Amino acid sequence: MSDLGTNAPRIPTTTLGGGGTGPRVGVQGLGCMGMSFAYGPTDADEARATLERALDLGVTFFDTADMYGLGANETFLSPFFRAHREEVVIATKFGIVLDPDDPVKRGIRNDRAYIRASVEGSLARLGVDMIDLYYMHRRDPSVPIEETVGAMAELVAEGKVAHLGLSEVTGAELRAAHAVHPIAALQSEWSLFSRDVERSAVPAAKELGVAFVPYSPLGRGFLTGSFKDAGEELTADDFRRGQPRFNGANATANHALLEPVRRIAEAHGATPAQVALAWVHQQAALREMTVIPIPGTRRRGRLEENAAATRITLTDAELALLAPIASHVAGDRYPDMTFTSATRE
Ligand SMILES: NC(=O)c1ccc[n+]([C@@H]2O[C@H](COP(=O)([O-])OP(=O)(O)OC[C@H]3O[C@@H](n4cnc5c(N)ncnc54)[C@H](OP(=O)(O)O)[C@@H]3O)[C@@H](O)[C@H]2O)c1
Repeated sequence: MSDLGTNAPRIPTTTLGGGGTGPRVGVQGLGCMGMSFAYGPTDADEARATLERALDLGVTFFDTADMYGLGANETFLSPFFRAHREEVVIATKFGIVLDPDDPVKRGIRNDRAYIRASVEGSLARLGVDMIDLYYMHRRDPSVPIEETVGAMAELVAEGKVAHLGLSEVTGAELRAAHAVHPIAALQSEWSLFSRDVERSAVPAAKELGVAFVPYSPLGRGFLTGSFKDAGEELTADDFRRGQPRFNGANATANHALLEPVRRIAEAHGATPAQVALAWVHQQAALREMTVIPIPGTRRRGRLEENAAATRITLTDAELALLAPIASHVAGDRYPDMTFTSATRE
């Protein structure tokens, strides 16, 4: 199932939310963050080849953000986007403010002046006239969401942005935002390891017809079983070394939780990564809503493997085996959970 060669079938398509007005995209997107940021050294040529290969497979929805590498990721993607402007759906984000002198420090800005400056920066780096989907990356609770979405809606009116998205918001925040302007997509972490979004964000997205875009659907790689302890196995600049789930006793305990994933993979002649992705994809049918995961990879082989997961259907018995995993995961998904929607539920 993992090697599809050059004649791989294209993945199915779906529509981003926002009252049915969103663009058609492949049901699986491509997370591009790791190509410039967070996950250690990158082979730029292989990353570029991965982008090209994505289009062959029908993976047309590309995810970046202004903060990935302080703009470097948008700049890296620009030539590819410009060469294929009609085929790609470009999603980028504003709102997380990095300190170039301190890689660990992060701020959040949601105010109108910041948004207006950010969109110009992203448009310039991407080298396009319009961003297809513009997300608020993180919420600053001191700024009313109505004000933030109002400023984002101005960008739609001005033709700089086609559709609006939000990341890491609660169901209540999504409802308040959607009342100001249709929201096409909600992007938050959702995987076999991270299911807190099912409390309010997922039901609200379903009710409003907003597409749910699960980020880190492979648990930042952990669900693939490819590493056991970030502290031992990842390079010093890898963001995951600071993640509670990836180190020491937590990593050992979490690795043991992958046993049913491995067994189910074997039964399907698939890989653990494919089972983890199939579980996320299957939420669309189970919950009758639009779900478009964006697994991140910089390698063609893995992209092919991940796209093939759209063709796996898990049985009820397999889903039942996978269901309890998230409640046993050791460690939070971020070192500081105030950086997520979970603490505002
Ligand atoms: N909104 C937000 O706050 C937010 C937060 C995090 C991420 N994101 C977005 O979501 C995207 C995806 O999330 P993510 O990259 O954090 O995590 P992910 O998709 O869960 O996992 C990515 C990791 O898994 C590895 N991988 C991918 N496919 C694999 C396979 N088949 N077998 C083995 N390993 C595999 C990748 O390595 P290689 O690249 O070396 O293949 C990478 O280290 C990002 O690229 C970014 O665009 C958004």
